[in-house]
Amino acid sequence: MEQNKKVEYNEEISRLLGALENNNAVIKNSLWERYLDKPVSIEREEEIYGYFLTHSIVSTAVMANAGTSMLTEFLYDSPPSPFFPIDDYFLSSKGGRAIKSRLTAIENKLPEIIEEHRAKGEVFIGNLGSGPGRDVIDVFSSHYKKSSDIKAVHIDRDATALKRGKRMAVIKKVDHLIDFIGVNFIKYEPTKKFDIILLIGILCGLESDVCIRVLKSIRRLIKKDGTIIAGNVSKKMLKEDPFTYFLMEWVGNWKLVFKSEEELKQIFEKAGYKWRSCFTDSYGFHIMGIGTPKFYF
Ligand SMILES: C[S@@+](CC[C@H](N)C(=O)[O-])C[C@H]1O[C@@H](n2cnc3c(N)ncnc32)[C@H](O)[C@@H]1O
Repeated sequence: MEQNKKVEYNEEISRLLGALENNNAVIKNSLWERYLDKPVSIEREEEIYGYFLTHSIVSTAVMANAGTSMLTEFLYDSPPSPFFPIDDYFLSSKGGRAIKSRLTAIENKLPEIIEEHRAKGEVFIGNLGSGPGRDVIDVFSSHYKKSSDIKAVHIDRDATALKRGKRMAVIKKVDHLIDFIGVNFIKYEPTKKFDIILLIGILCGLESDVCIRVLKSIRRLIKKDGTIIAGNVSKKMLKEDPFTYFLMEWVGNWKLVFKSEEELKQIFEKAGYKWRSCFTDSYGFHIMGIGTPKFYF
């Protein structure tokens, strides 16, 4: 295992380890040993866990709910001076910056897809596992505030995230265009089918066979000429930022299944979608596949 891990310190890791060294050298040494898969006693492991719990807002949120939008939202917000060095690390790491860059990439691409559908009539977007749904809120706020031919539904089982989304939508004056529904999207019964489905930050933690089942199960939600945009974390992230993934996995039990473009394409095709194209964030850490239902029943 150890030989697979990059042990060179980058600037962000050096800053984090320096801060930990000053605050608690035992934690710093044990954490690094744990990263290198060297033996660390169960007592020490518990000590590191407790340290993260009390010294990182982001870690606490992820420990309480792996897969929470609290982490992604924290990275989108990018507070200029986070209170704790561990949180500063998550923000400044390449993996952390790539999450924010993913949001930008989606917000740049979405209007193009919306316009394709808008040329045919009204546009109805389903943002599945939306968290607050900042991507759609931002796009609506920049382009469609005064439009009456576009609507979205943000679906998430996390009521707190939806409540925040509602506030964001009111502040950005697009709340009349978005409904918020607290439900498991797999069980969602639509009133009408979507022209565009967004599935961002959902497949990343799932094995390919489960991704196929998820994509198949949401086929019933999309129109036959609809477009799905579904993202997955790429293998490049693991290669270029293994330390951030180690922290996410170890601290928050947030496991990711890194996939190549070809693997994501296969998932789309096996789930019954035609692969149209894909785009990435500026780091190439997230691949967003664009597809359309292949056959319809
Ligand atoms: C990592 S966050 C991503 C949020 C948002 N899509 C984004 O890109 O910023 C994943 C979100 O999906 C939600 N989620 C995961 N599976 C879900 C399901 N089956 N039904 C509803 N929400 C789900 C979680 O509650 C969480 O808010």
